[in-house]
Amino acid sequence: MSMSDAPRTIRVRPGGREYDIVVQAGLLRHVGPRLRQLSRSARAVMVSDDRVGPLHGDLLATSLHQAGFQTIRVELPPGEEHKTVQSLWRIYDTVLAAGIERDTPLLALGGGVIGDMAGFAAATLLRGIPLVQIPTTLLAMVDASIGGKTGVNHPVGKNLIGAFHQPIAVFIDPLTLGTLPPRELRGGLAECIKHQVIRDAEGFADMERHIERALAVDVDYLSALVAQNVAIKAAVVEADPFEQGQRAHLNFGHTFGHAIETVSRYAWSHGECVALGMVAASRLAVRLGMLDEASCRRIVSLIRAAGLPVSGMSLDVDAVVAAMAFDKKVRSARLRFVLPLRIGEVCIRDDVPLELVRDAVAGLR
Ligand SMILES: NC(=O)c1ccc[n+]([C@@H]2O[C@H](COP(=O)([O-])OP(=O)(O)OC[C@H]3O[C@@H](n4cnc5c(N)ncnc54)[C@H](O)[C@@H]3O)[C@@H](O)[C@H]2O)c1
Ligand SMILES: [Zn+2]
Repeated sequence: MSMSDAPRTIRVRPGGREYDIVVQAGLLRHVGPRLRQLSRSARAVMVSDDRVGPLHGDLLATSLHQAGFQTIRVELPPGEEHKTVQSLWRIYDTVLAAGIERDTPLLALGGGVIGDMAGFAAATLLRGIPLVQIPTTLLAMVDASIGGKTGVNHPVGKNLIGAFHQPIAVFIDPLTLGTLPPRELRGGLAECIKHQVIRDAEGFADMERHIERALAVDVDYLSALVAQNVAIKAAVVEADPFEQGQRAHLNFGHTFGHAIETVSRYAWSHGECVALGMVAASRLAVRLGMLDEASCRRIVSLIRAAGLPVSGMSLDVDAVVAAMAFDKKVRSARLRFVLPLRIGEVCIRDDVPLELVRDAVAGLR
């Protein structure tokens, strides 16, 4: 048995209720018995997409079947463009036609799109049925599946229709990362780097040492990395379940990142834009005398080593600054930035002169 075969369990208590996040290579095969400990239901709903379903769905379905769950499977078209009320409606149609009960668990097998969408279906079906997150992208493992935020997009904007709905368990099998496209893996690494910068200097140094193993999809390393990042996100969410305070720290790199995402018209992935955003925010922190230059260089180097961009070819600086002013995270017309004080600690600043913001964006070209 290798290190990665041993389950790592992180217990979370957001606002009183409590559940486990389990990270284990090969866990998909054991979901049935584990779910049986949490549910007496005769049935379970499995929501996935057309990519992940064929790759990993049968393993999960077999495990559920062996534990006595009859499964209702829903497979949706993949991708952000399908994170819509139309897809949601397909879940409702299938599940309601099959006739579920209040205790029928719904399992979300896939990336953040499936997790958010199936999560919202679980939040609203019969006013709330049990949700189990089974994330299969690195981003969903370390970010989207934790915290209870669910929802779908509307033509007016992303995630505008949603609800908080905490899962009864999160089951993470890092073996599923073996089929993930490399660009998706790197996007998840951007969120991992973010977590280290806001909370964990040692974890940052660990990533510096092992980044090659992550890129080579070394499952032993990825299992440890995922568990460590889950612990960080879970701790932040637990301290602030309804996003009133320190959960904002998770937006490190995202004020710039979201604006770059909008201006690039989604040509660059979320992770790539967050990478650029973290570079801009770190340099801005140096300009403000908050962060030392050596730490800033380490942040930029790790982002580059993870195969993520640190400069953005042909960025329209004015457009990015303008887009930032419309970001939903803006409070009372002031731009709020999460800026590092050192690796492992950040603070929120809403008094940054626009000139310096502009310079930080211009520095990315
Ligand atoms: N709820 C939250 O707190 C939260 C946090 C961050 C992001 N999100 C949401 O997450 C979404 C992005 O999630 P994502 O990055 O996982 O993208 P995604 O769900 O679109 O998955 C990316 C692609 O990878 C495929 N895929 C997934 N797992 C695979 C695997 N193991 N092997 C092969 N292919 C696989 C999917 O089919 C998809 O095509 C966004 O909609 C975002 O809003 C939510
Ligand atoms: Zn993000």
